[in-house]
Amino acid sequence: MDAVKHAKGIGRGIDVDAILAGRRLRRTRRTDWSRRLVRENLLTVDDLIWPIFVVDGEARRDPVPSMPGVFRLSIDEAVKAAQHASELHIPVIALFPYTDPNLRDDAGSEALNPDNLVCRAVKAIRAAVADVGLMVDVALDPYTSHGHDGLMVGEEIVNDETVAQLVEQSIVLAAAGADIIGPSDMMDGRVGAIRAGLDEAGFTHVQIMAYSAKYASAFYGPFRDAIGTAKTLKGDKRTYQMDPSNGDEAIREAELDLAEGADLIMVKPGMPYLDILWRLKEAFRVPTFAYQVSGEYAMIQAAAGNGWLDLDRAATESLLAFKRAGADGILTYFAPMIAERLKTEK
Ligand code: PBG
Repeated sequence: MDAVKHAKGIGRGIDVDAILAGRRLRRTRRTDWSRRLVRENLLTVDDLIWPIFVVDGEARRDPVPSMPGVFRLSIDEAVKAAQHASELHIPVIALFPYTDPNLRDDAGSEALNPDNLVCRAVKAIRAAVADVGLMVDVALDPYTSHGHDGLMVGEEIVNDETVAQLVEQSIVLAAAGADIIGPSDMMDGRVGAIRAGLDEAGFTHVQIMAYSAKYASAFYGPFRDAIGTAKTLKGDKRTYQMDPSNGDEAIREAELDLAEGADLIMVKPGMPYLDILWRLKEAFRVPTFAYQVSGEYAMIQAAAGNGWLDLDRAATESLLAFKRAGADGILTYFAPMIAERLKTEK
Protein backbone atom coordinates (compact mmCIF):
# COMPACT_ATOMS: atom_id res chain seq x y z
CA MET A 1 0.00 0.00 0.00
CA ASP A 2 2.91 2.31 0.73
CA ALA A 3 4.30 1.70 -2.71
CA VAL A 4 0.91 2.51 -4.19
CA LYS A 5 0.57 5.65 -2.12
CA HIS A 6 4.05 6.71 -3.11
CA ALA A 7 3.44 6.10 -6.80
CA LYS A 8 0.18 8.06 -6.63
CA GLY A 9 1.99 10.97 -5.06
CA ILE A 10 -0.27 10.72 -2.08
CA GLY A 11 2.73 10.82 0.20
CA ARG A 12 3.51 14.25 -1.17
CA GLY A 13 0.09 15.46 -0.34
CA ILE A 14 -1.13 15.40 -3.93
CA ASP A 15 -4.89 14.87 -4.11
CA VAL A 16 -5.33 12.51 -7.06
CA ASP A 17 -9.11 12.44 -6.72
CA ALA A 18 -9.26 16.20 -7.01
CA ILE A 19 -7.12 16.13 -10.12
CA LEU A 20 -9.23 13.45 -11.77
CA ALA A 21 -12.51 14.85 -10.44
CA GLY A 22 -14.43 11.78 -11.51
CA ARG A 23 -12.89 11.72 -14.98
CA ARG A 24 -11.82 8.13 -14.88
CA LEU A 25 -11.98 6.76 -18.41
CA ARG A 26 -10.76 3.40 -17.20
CA ARG A 27 -14.11 2.82 -15.54
CA THR A 28 -15.70 1.53 -18.75
CA ARG A 29 -12.68 -0.60 -19.59
CA ARG A 30 -12.71 -2.64 -16.40
CA THR A 31 -14.82 -5.57 -17.52
CA ASP A 32 -15.52 -7.42 -20.71
CA TRP A 33 -19.25 -6.64 -20.62
CA SER A 34 -18.53 -2.97 -20.26
CA ARG A 35 -15.93 -2.92 -23.03
CA ARG A 36 -18.47 -4.63 -25.28
CA LEU A 37 -21.14 -2.13 -24.27
CA VAL A 38 -19.15 0.95 -25.24
CA ARG A 39 -17.46 -0.51 -28.31
CA GLU A 40 -17.77 1.89 -31.27
CA ASN A 41 -16.70 -0.25 -34.20
CA LEU A 42 -17.15 -3.90 -34.98
CA LEU A 43 -15.61 -6.13 -37.56
CA THR A 44 -18.14 -8.57 -38.99
CA VAL A 45 -18.01 -11.15 -41.75
CA ASP A 46 -20.15 -8.82 -43.87
CA ASP A 47 -17.16 -6.45 -44.09
CA LEU A 48 -14.97 -8.93 -45.92
CA ILE A 49 -14.01 -9.34 -49.57
CA TRP A 50 -11.70 -12.27 -50.18
CA PRO A 51 -9.20 -11.93 -53.09
CA ILE A 52 -8.37 -15.27 -54.73
CA PHE A 53 -5.73 -16.12 -57.35
CA VAL A 54 -6.63 -18.56 -60.11
CA VAL A 55 -4.37 -20.58 -62.38
CA ASP A 56 -4.86 -23.08 -65.21
CA GLY A 57 -4.89 -26.78 -64.51
CA GLU A 58 -6.65 -29.11 -62.16
CA ALA A 59 -6.35 -29.87 -58.45
CA ARG A 60 -3.66 -27.22 -58.16
CA ARG A 61 -2.92 -25.26 -55.02
CA ASP A 62 0.39 -23.57 -55.76
CA PRO A 63 1.69 -21.66 -52.75
CA VAL A 64 2.63 -18.02 -53.29
CA PRO A 65 5.98 -17.88 -51.42
CA SER A 66 5.74 -14.23 -50.41
CA MET A 67 2.18 -14.70 -49.13
CA PRO A 68 2.14 -17.55 -46.58
CA GLY A 69 -1.27 -19.23 -46.55
CA VAL A 70 -2.20 -17.93 -50.02
CA PHE A 71 -2.35 -20.23 -53.05
CA ARG A 72 -2.93 -19.97 -56.75
CA LEU A 73 -5.95 -22.19 -57.25
CA SER A 74 -7.04 -24.09 -60.32
CA ILE A 75 -10.69 -23.53 -61.17
CA ASP A 76 -11.92 -26.68 -59.38
CA GLU A 77 -10.11 -25.52 -56.23
CA ALA A 78 -11.41 -21.97 -56.67
CA VAL A 79 -14.93 -23.41 -56.74
CA LYS A 80 -14.19 -25.09 -53.40
CA ALA A 81 -12.89 -21.80 -52.04
CA ALA A 82 -16.10 -20.10 -53.15
CA GLN A 83 -18.14 -22.80 -51.44
CA HIS A 84 -16.07 -22.21 -48.32
CA ALA A 85 -16.76 -18.46 -48.64
CA SER A 86 -20.45 -19.24 -48.87
CA GLU A 87 -20.34 -21.45 -45.76
CA LEU A 88 -18.50 -18.72 -43.91
CA HIS A 89 -20.99 -16.16 -45.22
CA ILE A 90 -18.29 -13.99 -46.82
CA PRO A 91 -20.27 -11.69 -49.14
CA VAL A 92 -17.82 -11.31 -52.03
CA ILE A 93 -14.75 -12.98 -53.51
CA ALA A 94 -12.47 -11.14 -55.94
CA LEU A 95 -10.75 -13.15 -58.66
CA PHE A 96 -7.28 -12.49 -60.06
CA PRO A 97 -5.83 -14.66 -62.81
CA TYR A 98 -2.29 -15.93 -63.21
CA THR A 99 -2.22 -15.96 -67.01
CA ASP A 100 -0.01 -18.47 -68.79
CA PRO A 101 3.00 -16.40 -69.99
CA ASN A 102 2.46 -17.82 -73.50
CA LEU A 103 -0.91 -16.10 -73.62
CA ARG A 104 0.48 -12.68 -72.72
CA ASP A 105 1.16 -10.21 -75.51
CA ASP A 106 1.79 -6.52 -76.08
CA ALA A 107 -1.89 -5.78 -76.50
CA GLY A 108 -3.17 -7.87 -73.62
CA SER A 109 -5.54 -9.50 -76.08
CA GLU A 110 -6.29 -12.45 -73.80
CA ALA A 111 -8.24 -10.00 -71.62
CA LEU A 112 -10.92 -9.97 -74.34
CA ASN A 113 -11.15 -13.73 -74.74
CA PRO A 114 -14.60 -14.72 -73.40
CA ASP A 115 -13.13 -18.12 -72.62
CA ASN A 116 -10.09 -16.87 -70.71
CA LEU A 117 -9.14 -18.22 -67.31
CA VAL A 118 -10.97 -15.67 -65.21
CA CYS A 119 -14.17 -15.95 -67.31
CA ARG A 120 -14.11 -19.73 -66.97
CA ALA A 121 -13.56 -19.35 -63.23
CA VAL A 122 -16.49 -16.92 -62.93
CA LYS A 123 -18.77 -19.31 -64.83
CA ALA A 124 -17.72 -22.37 -62.84
CA ILE A 125 -18.12 -20.60 -59.52
CA ARG A 126 -21.46 -19.09 -60.52
CA ALA A 127 -22.73 -22.54 -61.50
CA ALA A 128 -21.74 -23.98 -58.12
CA VAL A 129 -22.34 -21.14 -55.68
CA ALA A 130 -25.28 -18.76 -55.83
CA ASP A 131 -24.95 -16.57 -52.78
CA VAL A 132 -21.43 -15.12 -53.05
CA GLY A 133 -20.83 -11.96 -55.10
CA LEU A 134 -18.12 -12.22 -57.74
CA MET A 135 -15.78 -9.30 -58.21
CA VAL A 136 -13.21 -9.14 -61.00
CA ASP A 137 -10.35 -6.79 -61.73
CA VAL A 138 -10.36 -4.71 -64.87
CA ALA A 139 -6.84 -3.82 -66.05
CA LEU A 140 -4.55 -5.37 -68.58
CA ASP A 141 -1.57 -6.31 -66.41
CA PRO A 142 -2.30 -10.04 -66.06
CA TYR A 143 -2.43 -10.22 -69.85
CA THR A 144 0.33 -7.94 -71.14
CA SER A 145 3.87 -9.12 -71.83
CA HIS A 146 5.18 -5.85 -70.35
CA GLY A 147 3.10 -6.13 -67.16
CA HIS A 148 1.48 -2.72 -67.44
CA ASP A 149 -2.22 -2.09 -66.81
CA GLY A 150 -2.61 -0.32 -70.15
CA LEU A 151 -1.45 -0.38 -73.74
CA MET A 152 2.06 0.83 -74.44
CA VAL A 153 3.04 3.00 -77.34
CA GLY A 154 6.78 3.51 -77.16
CA GLU A 155 7.39 4.28 -73.49
CA GLU A 156 3.93 5.65 -72.89
CA ILE A 157 0.88 3.98 -71.39
CA VAL A 158 -1.80 5.43 -73.64
CA ASN A 159 -4.98 6.41 -71.90
CA ASP A 160 -7.89 6.53 -74.33
CA GLU A 161 -6.97 3.46 -76.34
CA THR A 162 -6.61 1.55 -73.07
CA VAL A 163 -10.02 2.74 -71.87
CA ALA A 164 -11.63 1.43 -75.06
CA GLN A 165 -10.14 -1.99 -74.37
CA LEU A 166 -11.14 -1.92 -70.69
CA VAL A 167 -14.75 -1.33 -71.73
CA GLU A 168 -14.61 -4.47 -73.88
CA GLN A 169 -12.91 -6.39 -71.06
CA SER A 170 -15.65 -5.33 -68.65
CA ILE A 171 -18.40 -6.48 -71.00
CA VAL A 172 -16.69 -9.85 -71.46
CA LEU A 173 -16.47 -10.24 -67.68
CA ALA A 174 -20.06 -9.17 -67.10
CA ALA A 175 -21.22 -11.62 -69.79
CA ALA A 176 -19.36 -14.38 -67.92
CA GLY A 177 -21.39 -13.51 -64.82
CA ALA A 178 -19.30 -11.06 -62.80
CA ASP A 179 -21.29 -8.99 -60.31
CA ILE A 180 -18.77 -6.26 -59.53
CA ILE A 181 -16.30 -4.78 -61.98
CA GLY A 182 -13.21 -3.37 -60.29
CA PRO A 183 -11.22 -1.09 -62.57
CA SER A 184 -7.74 -1.06 -61.02
CA ASP A 185 -5.95 0.52 -63.94
CA MET A 186 -6.10 4.24 -63.03
CA MET A 187 -6.74 5.44 -66.59
CA ASP A 188 -8.69 8.70 -66.77
CA GLY A 189 -12.35 8.41 -67.70
CA ARG A 190 -12.55 4.65 -67.49
CA VAL A 191 -15.38 4.45 -64.98
CA GLY A 192 -17.74 6.51 -67.14
CA ALA A 193 -16.79 4.60 -70.26
CA ILE A 194 -17.23 1.23 -68.57
CA ARG A 195 -20.59 2.26 -67.12
CA ALA A 196 -21.83 3.36 -70.53
CA GLY A 197 -20.51 0.18 -72.14
CA LEU A 198 -22.08 -2.10 -69.55
CA ASP A 199 -25.43 -0.33 -69.77
CA GLU A 200 -25.45 -0.45 -73.51
CA ALA A 201 -24.71 -4.17 -73.43
CA GLY A 202 -27.61 -4.72 -71.02
CA PHE A 203 -25.58 -5.14 -67.82
CA THR A 204 -27.24 -2.30 -65.95
CA HIS A 205 -27.24 -4.31 -62.70
CA VAL A 206 -23.48 -4.91 -62.66
CA GLN A 207 -21.78 -2.76 -60.04
CA ILE A 208 -18.54 -0.82 -60.39
CA MET A 209 -16.09 -0.63 -57.51
CA ALA A 210 -13.61 1.99 -58.62
CA TYR A 211 -10.07 1.73 -57.40
CA SER A 212 -10.36 5.48 -56.95
CA ALA A 213 -7.28 6.25 -54.97
CA LYS A 214 -4.76 3.69 -56.05
CA TYR A 215 -1.20 4.65 -55.24
CA ALA A 216 2.04 3.67 -56.97
CA SER A 217 3.06 1.53 -54.04
CA ALA A 218 5.86 -0.77 -52.99
CA PHE A 219 3.28 -2.87 -51.17
CA TYR A 220 2.04 -4.64 -54.32
CA GLY A 221 5.22 -6.72 -54.58
CA PRO A 222 3.85 -10.08 -53.42
CA PHE A 223 0.73 -9.68 -55.61
CA ARG A 224 2.96 -9.27 -58.64
CA ASP A 225 4.67 -12.54 -57.66
CA ALA A 226 1.24 -14.16 -57.43
CA ILE A 227 0.05 -13.11 -60.88
CA GLY A 228 3.49 -13.42 -62.44
CA THR A 229 4.17 -9.80 -63.34
CA ALA A 230 6.98 -9.11 -60.85
CA LYS A 231 9.71 -10.08 -63.29
CA THR A 232 8.10 -8.93 -66.50
CA LEU A 233 7.01 -5.44 -65.41
CA LYS A 234 8.93 -2.87 -67.38
CA GLY A 235 9.66 0.19 -65.27
CA ASP A 236 7.02 1.24 -62.79
CA LYS A 237 3.42 2.47 -62.76
CA ARG A 238 4.01 6.05 -61.61
CA THR A 239 2.62 7.66 -64.76
CA TYR A 240 -0.85 6.37 -63.93
CA GLN A 241 -1.03 5.31 -60.28
CA MET A 242 -1.07 8.08 -57.68
CA ASP A 243 1.91 9.68 -56.01
CA PRO A 244 2.05 8.61 -52.34
CA SER A 245 2.71 12.24 -51.42
CA ASN A 246 -0.77 13.37 -52.42
CA GLY A 247 -4.03 13.49 -50.48
CA ASP A 248 -6.20 16.18 -52.06
CA GLU A 249 -5.77 14.49 -55.42
CA ALA A 250 -7.47 11.38 -54.05
CA ILE A 251 -10.57 13.46 -53.46
CA ARG A 252 -10.57 14.63 -57.07
CA GLU A 253 -10.14 11.05 -58.26
CA ALA A 254 -13.06 9.81 -56.19
CA GLU A 255 -15.21 12.78 -57.16
CA LEU A 256 -14.72 12.00 -60.84
CA ASP A 257 -15.32 8.27 -60.38
CA LEU A 258 -18.59 8.99 -58.57
CA ALA A 259 -19.67 11.50 -61.20
CA GLU A 260 -18.89 8.89 -63.84
CA GLY A 261 -21.11 6.32 -62.11
CA ALA A 262 -19.03 4.37 -59.60
CA ASP A 263 -21.26 2.55 -57.09
CA LEU A 264 -18.44 1.87 -54.66
CA ILE A 265 -15.06 3.52 -54.21
CA MET A 266 -11.85 2.09 -52.85
CA VAL A 267 -8.53 3.16 -51.38
CA LYS A 268 -5.44 1.09 -51.98
CA PRO A 269 -3.13 0.18 -50.25
CA GLY A 270 -4.89 0.20 -46.91
CA MET A 271 -2.98 0.78 -43.73
CA PRO A 272 -0.47 3.34 -45.05
CA TYR A 273 -3.44 5.32 -46.46
CA LEU A 274 -5.94 5.37 -43.60
CA ASP A 275 -5.99 9.17 -43.78
CA ILE A 276 -7.18 8.96 -47.38
CA LEU A 277 -9.87 6.48 -46.44
CA TRP A 278 -11.10 8.77 -43.70
CA ARG A 279 -11.11 11.81 -45.97
CA LEU A 280 -13.01 10.08 -48.76
CA LYS A 281 -15.63 8.73 -46.39
CA GLU A 282 -16.06 12.14 -44.78
CA ALA A 283 -16.23 13.90 -48.15
CA PHE A 284 -18.67 11.67 -49.99
CA ARG A 285 -20.50 9.39 -47.53
CA VAL A 286 -20.75 6.64 -50.15
CA PRO A 287 -19.83 2.94 -49.81
CA THR A 288 -16.07 3.12 -49.36
CA PHE A 289 -13.64 0.23 -49.25
CA ALA A 290 -10.04 -0.38 -48.35
CA TYR A 291 -7.73 -2.90 -49.97
CA GLN A 292 -5.34 -4.41 -47.46
CA VAL A 293 -2.85 -5.34 -50.15
CA SER A 294 -0.45 -8.22 -50.54
CA GLY A 295 2.50 -6.42 -48.95
CA GLU A 296 0.50 -5.57 -45.85
CA TYR A 297 -0.57 -9.19 -45.57
CA ALA A 298 3.01 -10.35 -46.13
CA MET A 299 4.38 -8.06 -43.41
CA ILE A 300 1.98 -9.36 -40.79
CA GLN A 301 2.50 -12.98 -41.85
CA ALA A 302 6.27 -12.59 -41.86
CA ALA A 303 6.37 -11.08 -38.40
CA ALA A 304 3.97 -13.72 -37.10
CA GLY A 305 6.02 -16.45 -38.77
CA ASN A 306 9.04 -15.23 -36.83
CA GLY A 307 7.11 -15.25 -33.60
CA TRP A 308 7.26 -11.45 -33.38
CA LEU A 309 3.52 -10.78 -33.63
CA ASP A 310 0.41 -12.73 -32.76
CA LEU A 311 -1.13 -13.41 -36.19
CA ASP A 312 -4.76 -13.36 -35.27
CA ARG A 313 -4.57 -10.31 -33.05
CA ALA A 314 -2.43 -8.30 -35.46
CA ALA A 315 -4.69 -9.17 -38.40
CA THR A 316 -7.84 -8.32 -36.47
CA GLU A 317 -6.45 -5.04 -35.20
CA SER A 318 -5.37 -4.04 -38.71
CA LEU A 319 -8.86 -4.72 -40.06
CA LEU A 320 -10.54 -2.89 -37.22
CA ALA A 321 -8.43 0.15 -38.09
CA PHE A 322 -10.16 0.26 -41.49
CA LYS A 323 -13.56 0.17 -39.85
CA ARG A 324 -12.62 2.98 -37.51
CA ALA A 325 -11.33 5.03 -40.45
CA GLY A 326 -14.71 4.68 -42.15
CA ALA A 327 -14.49 1.62 -44.37
CA ASP A 328 -17.70 -0.16 -45.28
CA GLY A 329 -15.66 -3.20 -46.21
CA ILE A 330 -12.14 -4.49 -46.73
CA LEU A 331 -10.48 -6.58 -49.38
CA THR A 332 -8.15 -8.79 -47.40
CA TYR A 333 -6.29 -12.05 -47.84
CA PHE A 334 -7.08 -12.70 -44.18
CA ALA A 335 -10.80 -12.98 -45.01
CA PRO A 336 -11.25 -16.75 -44.55
CA MET A 337 -9.14 -16.84 -41.38
CA ILE A 338 -11.02 -13.96 -39.82
CA ALA A 339 -14.43 -15.24 -40.95
CA GLU A 340 -13.64 -18.61 -39.43
CA ARG A 341 -12.78 -16.98 -36.12
CA LEU A 342 -15.76 -14.64 -36.10
CA LYS A 343 -17.99 -17.69 -36.58
CA THR A 344 -16.72 -19.42 -33.47
CA GLU A 345 -16.43 -16.30 -31.33
CA LYS A 346 -19.06 -15.85 -28.69
C1 PBG B 1 -3.25 -4.59 -60.97
C2 PBG B 1 -3.56 -4.79 -59.54
C3 PBG B 1 -2.61 -4.74 -58.52
C4 PBG B 1 -3.26 -5.09 -57.36
C5 PBG B 1 -4.60 -5.33 -57.66
N1 PBG B 1 -4.78 -5.12 -59.03
C6 PBG B 1 -1.15 -4.48 -58.56
C7 PBG B 1 -0.56 -3.43 -59.37
O1 PBG B 1 -1.17 -2.39 -59.62
O2 PBG B 1 0.55 -3.66 -59.81
C8 PBG B 1 -2.56 -5.19 -56.03
C9 PBG B 1 -3.17 -6.04 -54.99
C10 PBG B 1 -2.25 -6.45 -53.90
O3 PBG B 1 -1.07 -6.05 -53.82
O4 PBG B 1 -2.72 -7.21 -53.05
N2 PBG B 1 -4.11 -3.98 -61.79
